[in-house]
Amino acid sequence: MEGFEKVAQRGDITAGKLTLVEAQGEAVVLTELLGKVIAFSNICTHEDCDFVFDGADGESGLEGNEVICGCHDSRFNVLDGSVMNPPATEPITIYAVQIDGDDVLVGPR
Ligand code: FES
Repeated sequence: MEGFEKVAQRGDITAGKLTLVEAQGEAVVLTELLGKVIAFSNICTHEDCDFVFDGADGESGLEGNEVICGCHDSRFNVLDGSVMNPPATEPITIYAVQIDGDDVLVGPR
């Protein structure tokens, strides 16, 4: 990913909710944690399952600062991407977030 791209409105991103957007062809999940918007890849590094399916919420969940893959229960820290529970061994991609007024922009970290 190169540069920042507007992907959402700040008011649409709320705590406990996973919002799927696309930025430069990459599937990105947005959520709010401790009052800040965070962004991470929608692709689990274990066997490439999507954390969030378009139009089918609830396959994966967020517990505190960990996203849980609905396929085989891998857990990742959504702040730094690190694996918190196997079978995944590789971290997920985390993106940088910028807030411009009510716009949410995502870019490389
Ligand atoms: S694909 Fe996510 S845990 Fe297996």
